[in-house]
Amino acid sequence: MKILVTGGAGYIGSHTTLLLLNAGYDVIVFDNFSNASAESIRQVEALTDKKTILIEGDIRSRKDLEEVFSNHKIDAVIHFAGLKAVGESVEQPLRYYENNVCGTVQLCEVMAEHGCRQIVFSSSATVYGDPHTTPIKEDFPLSATNPYGRSKLFVEEILKDLYISDAEWKVILLRYFNPVGAHESGRIGEDPSGIPNNLMPFIAQTAVGKREKLSIFGNDYDTHDGTGVRDYIHVVDLAEGHLKALEKLPDIKGVLTVNLGTGQGYSVLDMVKAFEKASGKKVPYVFAPRRNGDIAKCYADPAYAKKVLGWEAKRGIEEMCEDTWRWQSQNPNGYTY
Ligand code: NAD
Ligand code: UFG
Repeated sequence: MKILVTGGAGYIGSHTTLLLLNAGYDVIVFDNFSNASAESIRQVEALTDKKTILIEGDIRSRKDLEEVFSNHKIDAVIHFAGLKAVGESVEQPLRYYENNVCGTVQLCEVMAEHGCRQIVFSSSATVYGDPHTTPIKEDFPLSATNPYGRSKLFVEEILKDLYISDAEWKVILLRYFNPVGAHESGRIGEDPSGIPNNLMPFIAQTAVGKREKLSIFGNDYDTHDGTGVRDYIHVVDLAEGHLKALEKLPDIKGVLTVNLGTGQGYSVLDMVKAFEKASGKKVPYVFAPRRNGDIAKCYADPAYAKKVLGWEAKRGIEEMCEDTWRWQSQNPNGYTY
């Protein structure tokens, strides 16, 4: 089976590509490298001893997409390509809508023209806004507080409309919680550009000495230690969820929406402690004011994923921290060779 992986050179895409190759899929990686390096795919190919078809292209370019679909008979698309920085999306909403929403529309148009109507989409727990309770189930009310989150909500709706218009479409919306960790080899991992927005890369860069200290945003939340609680999920578990989704795609009718989380919430301080233990390094921190738009608690009810995909996360917080540390300590400057 031939799978097109948009955004396949990125953090989650590269880990998923690795598993797809190992499982025997033919993989076309399609990425504009706006937030990735081709080095990730070189590492994936070395680790698997298999080749991808690596294409530099943009989902907003009809020409780029036409070329791929004309040259290859693609069975399904895993659609990771998108911009993902929440703060940046507030400053540059049109860029986010153009990339994430218009890009997806182009992709779906070209897919339909070429008779490919199976897609797995990277959605996010951000679509639940500030949930009234936890754990979060797939049928909870949806809302968004920033353009990034709205771009995910819009794309979910667009994909649902596609199925209403044409019952041949098969769509799986995967709502990820907080992906962290790296492949156990330490050769691929998360490589954020500039100052990391997310907790785990910030902790890792502090432990390795690239950042002086972590600012913990808020210690007065209604949580067990006052710091924010999230559902951190190992990126390899997440990647495995995509393989399960691919296997399920042909059997579904319409649109399937699934949370990918562990069901376990950890606070910022829990993560700091676990990381110090895994790395043997100190992570200096200070308490800072709450970050705008943050919520106290967010973790998944993962029961539906187990029921419909036969998937559940296997890797715990120790493995998440150990694997992040291996990647960070072996590649303190990310993919710079
Ligand atoms: P990432 O930035 O590492 O990967 C996204 C990839 O898409 C990058 O390689 C980038 O170069 C590529 N890309 C962006 N715009 C493109 C375009 N117009 N054409 C072609 N390629 C393009 O991010 P990630 O963490 O791997 O996230 C993958 C997907 O999962 C994204 O859609 C993201 O919104 C979603 N997601 C991520 C998280 C998270 O915390 N990492 C959480 C929930 C959802
Ligand atoms: N945090 C800090 N200091 C930092 C960074 C984060 O204290 O320097 C705290 C946050 O306040 C929050 C927790 O660490 O309590 C996690 O923050 P992240 O930025 O790592 O993750 P978020 O839960 O805010 O958001 C992430 C992605 C979103 C996605 C969401 C749900 O960035 O894109 O998970 O999947 F939508």
